[in-house]
Amino acid sequence: MAKKSKKAAAEANPMWGGRFGVAPDAIMQKINASIDVDKRLYAEDIAGSIAHARMLAKQGILTANDARRIVEGLGKVKAEIERGAFAFRTALEDIHMNVESRLAELIGEPAKRLHTARSRNDQVATDFRLWVRGACDRAEAALRELQRALIDKAEKHAGTIMPGFTHLQPAQPVTFGHHLMAYVEMFGRDRGRFADARKRMNESPLGSAALAGTSFPIDRHFTAQALGFDRPMANSLDGVSDRDFALEFLSAAMLASIHLSRLAEELVIWCGPQFGFVRLSDAWTTGSSIMPQKRNPDAAELVRATAGRLFGALIGLATVMKGLPLTYSKDMQEDKARSFAAADALMLAIAAATGMIDDLSVDEARMKASASAGFTTATDLADWLVKELNMPFREAHHATGRIVRRAEELGVDIAEVPLADMKAIEKRIDARVFAVLGVENSVKSRTSFGGTAPAQVRKAAKAARRRFL
Ligand code: ARG
Repeated sequence: MAKKSKKAAAEANPMWGGRFGVAPDAIMQKINASIDVDKRLYAEDIAGSIAHARMLAKQGILTANDARRIVEGLGKVKAEIERGAFAFRTALEDIHMNVESRLAELIGEPAKRLHTARSRNDQVATDFRLWVRGACDRAEAALRELQRALIDKAEKHAGTIMPGFTHLQPAQPVTFGHHLMAYVEMFGRDRGRFADARKRMNESPLGSAALAGTSFPIDRHFTAQALGFDRPMANSLDGVSDRDFALEFLSAAMLASIHLSRLAEELVIWCGPQFGFVRLSDAWTTGSSIMPQKRNPDAAELVRATAGRLFGALIGLATVMKGLPLTYSKDMQEDKARSFAAADALMLAIAAATGMIDDLSVDEARMKASASAGFTTATDLADWLVKELNMPFREAHHATGRIVRRAEELGVDIAEVPLADMKAIEKRIDARVFAVLGVENSVKSRTSFGGTAPAQVRKAAKAARRRFL
């Protein structure tokens, strides 16, 4: 219900009650207020205001005394928020006005001077940039910890043989360590994307004011430096109106979530009884309320599902920003809920993935047995024919195919096909061929750079420690 009095308007909003005769409709207030979401920006908001107040004093726009009282007062507001003693008010819309209004209650008149040469438009752009910058750093640090877990496991299993897959069909034997190291590379690139985005976003919008800059003699370089930005943004219209930095954060997060979902999916597959490659302890599984035999990998499934949230956040914000005319529009207030939710989901998924990698134990015998099933050393046989008999690879492929068919008929692995049967297919084959046929020989021979040989994997893990940790 709209309260119809000048006094009600002034009470409902001390920031612009001067111009307004009637208090906002309750639904207007509800759709407009963002405090439930953006109160999370309180520390950034207060840091921005402190930098702004100090700059105003340095420039002679505020007295030193007013600036001191503002800075002290903001410290009190921050402490109140942190001990849960702050009463957030929906009528004050957002974190910026909630903080400023409380500051006025605490210190009186100087608080009313803080908003000189500033607007909520550059204020929110600054606060949110600071927050997203922090989120990039937090994501990077968490991914580093996940890489640490993967490298530790990979070193332990540099020589543990498992089937490598294409089309989820056994393809060639690889080592479990090599497989885990593939994810170390992926998460390394994800970290790089957060770091790149951070570099690009590290410019200060503060001092763009509402959109056009200000007539006050402000020092934007000072506030930029005080807040750890590399420089002020060069254009005030751009400063208040782009959210590409949040979109870059969400893109990097989305890509990381794809990698996390692939790892999670493999955990789900590997720990199922049909595969039985790995086991997650009770700490990382759940039981079923009806089927006593079950150990469900719920955490892995939920990490797999996190991608859905992150795609949603990115597409959602991209859709909000698309086609918005310069400069600020209230649509942009929708940037925060999505970004906060996406960052929370990402951090939780990374933590869960890290926990599961540290936790998992490997059934080496089962992995190795599975690696020999499905004629996974057929390529090694074909390569031997090329190397030792100088056969063209296409012919070697054909001869190997016939030997695989023979193995199938006999119900044995390639390494167990009698030499006589092999000779019947290609008479130049001799007993030396058996040296390349077991899965152990196969992986040991893959010594090319980036290959799966245990010695290579150990080297790769060592190099990765230097590159990433
Ligand atoms: N709560 C607003 C947001 O998050 C702050 C900026 C408001 N600016 C304005 N011109 N109404 O975008």
